Amino acid sequence: MPDLEAIVTEIADAMRARPDRGAVASYIPELARVDAGQFGLVVIDRAGQVAAGGDADIPFSIQSISKVFTLTLALGMVGDRLWRKVGREPSGSPFNSIVQLEREQGIPRNPFINAGAIAVTDVILSGHQPREALGEILRFMQFLAQDSGIAIDETVAASEKRTGFRNAALANYMRSFGVLENPVDYTLGVYFHHCAIAMTCRQLATAGLYLAYSGQHPLAGHSVISAERARRINAIMLTCGHYDGSGEFAYRVGLPGKSGVGGGILAVAPGRASICVWSPGLDAAGNSHLGRIALEMLVKRTGWSIF
Ligand code: DON
Repeated sequence: MPDLEAIVTEIADAMRARPDRGAVASYIPELARVDAGQFGLVVIDRAGQVAAGGDADIPFSIQSISKVFTLTLALGMVGDRLWRKVGREPSGSPFNSIVQLEREQGIPRNPFINAGAIAVTDVILSGHQPREALGEILRFMQFLAQDSGIAIDETVAASEKRTGFRNAALANYMRSFGVLENPVDYTLGVYFHHCAIAMTCRQLATAGLYLAYSGQHPLAGHSVISAERARRINAIMLTCGHYDGSGEFAYRVGLPGKSGVGGGILAVAPGRASICVWSPGLDAAGNSHLGRIALEMLVKRTGWSIF
């Protein structure tokens, strides 16, 4: 077994010293205020053994990482019928792109681009009030992270709602094809709020454990999903989790991973560990710049690439 404590500390120190940090997301005004100098890394294994480095306990906006958990919930609710509303192919386009929707009858390419995640949120919402759907998502996160203190940052949610014209366009466009079934305002409201959940690296790495261990959450003492479903969610994370940067992430890191514009990345080393890294500065594709570099170092040291 690699000495994870030493490796994580070494990576956190190396990342702290780097001048290249990327740029924090500015299209959500509240995220533009975050200090780009922060860096956190947490690795958790089956026994709950934690290796933590840097700002491991500072909450950040999980943004698109929430899409892994909403996908899990929606599959639990409607099973494979979900795939009538959303595809599972990489888009090769930016996360907020609209261009494929017209040619593809309003069906988004995958559940991780914004259009796809909005369609998934619409499925979770079906027949419920927005407040109930949001409560369901939040309770699921609290259960997976084994922490009832996890909450939504209302300021971030309001900030995105005020400026989310592109997402409103995507949602209305999908509604015109009948892919969304609920009032667009309801669906967008739930979507903005689940993106605005605030969590630490430690909480997110804990929440991701079920994906690392074939659907079983070793700390929650529970089977969350079947092994087959965990394998499939991991496959979509590998191929689509970093949008048009997914190929580069697979090439450099070789693990299923999901990024968010808050600068977090949840990565899964199947059978070995659940990993969360956070550094708010992003690259051109909207993925954490130092987060990816840190994971590349981690995988080199541990040999955890799935390839
Ligand atoms: O909808 C948005 O634009 C954000 N709430 C989430 C986008 C995101 O996190 C993309 N990830 N890198």
